[in-house]
Amino acid sequence: MDHQAILIEKLSEEGMLTREEFHELIEGRTPESAEHLFSLARNRAKEVFGNKVYLRGIIEFSNYCRCDCRYCGIRRSDEHAERYRMSPEEIISCAALGHEVGFRTFVLQSGEDLWYTDEILCDIIRELKKRFPDSAVTLSIGEKSRTSFEKYYEAGADRYLLRHETASPSLYRKLHPEPQTLLNRVRCLWDLKDIGYQVGAGMMIDAPGQTTDDLVNDLFFLKELEPDMIGIGPFLPHKETPFRDEPEGSTELTLFMLGVLRLMFPKALLPATTALGTADPRGREKGILAGANVVMPNLSPVENRKKYLLYDNKICLSDDALMCAGCMSGRIHGLGYEVEIGRGDAPRLWKKGTAPAK
Ligand code: 5AD
Ligand code: FES
Repeated sequence: MDHQAILIEKLSEEGMLTREEFHELIEGRTPESAEHLFSLARNRAKEVFGNKVYLRGIIEFSNYCRCDCRYCGIRRSDEHAERYRMSPEEIISCAALGHEVGFRTFVLQSGEDLWYTDEILCDIIRELKKRFPDSAVTLSIGEKSRTSFEKYYEAGADRYLLRHETASPSLYRKLHPEPQTLLNRVRCLWDLKDIGYQVGAGMMIDAPGQTTDDLVNDLFFLKELEPDMIGIGPFLPHKETPFRDEPEGSTELTLFMLGVLRLMFPKALLPATTALGTADPRGREKGILAGANVVMPNLSPVENRKKYLLYDNKICLSDDALMCAGCMSGRIHGLGYEVEIGRGDAPRLWKKGTAPAK
C-alpha cells in the first residue's frame, strides 16, 4: 500500500489522524487516493443510513443582515442587494407548499435580521409545529444570545445550523470584520448543543487565505464539537463583495473533504450543498458519491430567490418548490439512492427499530 492508502485506511479505522497525517493526506491527494477515500466513505454512509438521502426544504425568508462577512453577497454594506423580508404568514404558506410536495424538514434561513423579534420567531415556530407535527424545524438565523436560543427551543425548534466558518482565529478575522468574533460563534455552538438542539457547523473550502493548516484546524474543532450536521461547500466569489476577484473554491477539494468528514463522523448528516451544485453541475451527485447524505433544495418563493445570492451564479433561481423537489429526487434515484420520507433526524435520536432500512 502506498502512503495515501495507509492514511486512508487508518482514518477509516480510527476516525482520526494526527495533524501531520491530515496535512499529508490532503496535500498529497491524487485522483486515485480520492477514489479510494470515496468508496470507503460511501460504504460508511450506507452502513449507517442505508441507501437513503435526506431532503430538507430551505426557506430563505429575509436577506436583511446586520453582519458584514467579506465573502457574503447579502452583507450589510452591499448597497446593490435588493432587500426583502417575508411575513410570518408567507413563511407558513411556503412551508405548507413544501409539506404538500413531501418535505418534512423546514430550514428557516435568513441574514441576521432583527425585525424578527424572539416573539415573532417563536410564533412562527409554534405555528409550524402545530400545523406540521410530523416535521422538523431547523433555524439558520445566525448568532443570538443563549436566552433567545432557549426560547426558540421551547417553542419547538429542533435543529440549528450555524457554520463556524473557520476555526482559525486569524482567518476568521480576515473573513469577518469587527465586532464579529470566533469566540462568540463558538460560544453559540456550545450553547446550542447544551440546550439540546441537533447542531450543524461547517466551513467553506478555499475561502480566501485559507491554508491546509486551517482546514486541519477545522477538523480538530469539529472532532471536539461533534456536531450532528456538517455543511461544507466551495467558496464562490460574489461581484459586490471585497472578495470579488478571489478564485473560486475547488470542487475537487470539497469532495475530498466530504470523504474525510464521512470517515471521521460516520453518523453525521453531511449535505451536498447548493454551493457544490453551483460550482459543478453534478456537484451534488458527486457529493453523495463522496459520502454526503443530505440535500437541501430551495423552497423559497421564486421572486425572492434571485435576491438571496450569497455568491454569483447560484442555481435554481427560476425553479419552484415542486420542480426542485422533483429534480432532486430524480438526481438521487439516478445514483441508485432513495429519498427518505421523514424528518431525517440525526442517528443519535433514532429510537430502536426506526433506523431507515438498508
Ligand atoms: N461562497 C460560498 N459559501 C458562502 N456562504 C456565504 N457566502 C458564501 C460564498 N460567497 C456560506 C457561509 C454561510 C452559509 C449560509 O453560506 O458558510 O454560513
Ligand atoms: Fe432546483 Fe434541481 S434542485 S432545479
